[in-house]
Amino acid sequence: MSTPIRVVQWATGGVGRAAIGAILQHPELELVGCWVHSPDKHGQDVGAIVGIDPVGVLATTDAEEILRLEADAVVYAPVVPSGREVAALLESGKNVVTPVGWFYPDPARTARIEAACLAGGTSLHGTGINPGGATDLHPILFSSLSTAVRFVRGEEFSDVRSYAAPDVLRGFMGFGGTPEESLSGPMLEMLSGGFVESVRMCLDAVGFAEAEIVPTQEVAVATAIISETPIGPIEPGQVAARRFAWEAVVDCTVVVRVAVNWLMGEQHLDPPWTFGPEGQRYEVEVQGDPDTFAVIHGWHPRSIEAGLERNPGIVVTAAHCVNSIPYVVAAPPGIRTYLDLPLVAGRAHPDLARQRQGQSTRY
Ligand SMILES: NC(=O)c1ccc[n+]([C@@H]2O[C@H](COP(=O)([O-])OP(=O)(O)OC[C@H]3O[C@@H](n4cnc5c(N)ncnc54)[C@H](OP(=O)(O)O)[C@@H]3O)[C@@H](O)[C@H]2O)c1
Repeated sequence: MSTPIRVVQWATGGVGRAAIGAILQHPELELVGCWVHSPDKHGQDVGAIVGIDPVGVLATTDAEEILRLEADAVVYAPVVPSGREVAALLESGKNVVTPVGWFYPDPARTARIEAACLAGGTSLHGTGINPGGATDLHPILFSSLSTAVRFVRGEEFSDVRSYAAPDVLRGFMGFGGTPEESLSGPMLEMLSGGFVESVRMCLDAVGFAEAEIVPTQEVAVATAIISETPIGPIEPGQVAARRFAWEAVVDCTVVVRVAVNWLMGEQHLDPPWTFGPEGQRYEVEVQGDPDTFAVIHGWHPRSIEAGLERNPGIVVTAAHCVNSIPYVVAAPPGIRTYLDLPLVAGRAHPDLARQRQGQSTRY
């Protein structure tokens, strides 16, 4: 058997807890450390934090302890990311995978991170579901099945009542405030960071001409109290649904569209937005020869309660991070995007996995 890749989990919110489960199940990975923000989690066994038997790894709030730890990779998933922290982890010899950014960063802004990668002999990979797979990887993958591509799109339609991350819902997605606060606040700019990188990745991979990227945002407000939400009751007049879109335009023609439709349910909204007959879903579209139209179900929970317990979209995000670790560890130092890495695969259930003699997978 080859030596396991030693992994640290950084933050144990929804993504972090799902990532811990994914690390523990992955045949090539071993959980060796865990950083937490919450003081009450310090010293707890990680198993207790995720609700399973003890795993023999204690969580710590001490970042220096993590930096000193012998480890190969970190799944970095805090609600408030820090470039300084990521650079320190990379310099300390730990590869980093993260859903918080660096999906396809502008090379003009990455000198510090690239230097940290070189110093530590490590790589950084930004991945996830959205931004990430649904907004760049999947449109690009499907584009490979068409010729003369004219348009690619990745779009999310989600009931965010099942997203148990109140800080993210309020602070990044702009729910619960007035329309003026939401529309003039920093959300569009903060979200644009990741989603514009997705659009740029699609433009570059497919080879579209120089494009202008146009962001748009809309809000719907509650017309009656929406009581069961992760951020508490949303009062009439407060923002209860959001649509954001980023479109790349070449000569007045939209060639890439990345969009999200986030609703706190489908009732009591003005305008009366709904998901339509297909319900919650992700869509991937390619217009070319031929066209592709893919609707993805399964990444949304069966009920709000089930989603608050364990949201498949969050599990997808964590899985995409964790499954990329062996490929990122094997990659040459630097920021490595989907366009640099080989095809990332999941790993078989233990009951169905082949007996491994060394590495069973090529990367
Ligand atoms: N790309 C994608 O597809 C995608 C999808 C989902 C989420 N995300 C991003 O992934 C990150 C984690 O999302 P999540 O759903 O896991 O969020 P979450 O449930 O709110 O958890 C985030 C965790 O961050 C830690 N934290 C809290 N306050 C902090 C602070 N001030 N500074 C640093 N860390 C703090 C806490 O960790 P402890 O509990 O360990 O103390 C908290 O549980 C967010 O930045 C989110 O935007 C990306």
